[in-house]
Amino acid sequence: LASIEIDISKIAEGEQLRVLWRGAPVFVRHRTAAEIAEAESVDMGALPDPATDASRLIPGPDGALKPQYLVQVGVCTHFGCVPVGEAGDYDGWYCPCHGSHYDTSGRIRKGPAPRNLDIPPYEYLSDTVIKVG
Ligand code: FES
Repeated sequence: LASIEIDISKIAEGEQLRVLWRGAPVFVRHRTAAEIAEAESVDMGALPDPATDASRLIPGPDGALKPQYLVQVGVCTHFGCVPVGEAGDYDGWYCPCHGSHYDTSGRIRKGPAPRNLDIPPYEYLSDTVIKVG
């Protein structure tokens, strides 16, 4: 399928939905307030691939960002393994293949991966439905 629609209202806070899009896993995480606060408080100088948390989000239908929902391609930017959620030294994702640690914004923090987890093309169709692709 070129694009898929996902009902994000079914994802409980602190949980992640994994869907397949063009053969690759896409992670839709409903972040907790603590995860968002952690993602927003990082010093850009500490990031190998600097990006604000806000730059990794898109606005909802009302034009405001929805920081509780983080949508990413679930493929490690090193050699393409699928990272494990709620793991690693930065409370985000951990890639067990060669030890890359991603934070709660999916940004690479430690290990061999060269880039943050990719953000797929997506949009909000409503407050509760996104279209990926
Ligand atoms: Fe993820 Fe190498 S593929 S660390």
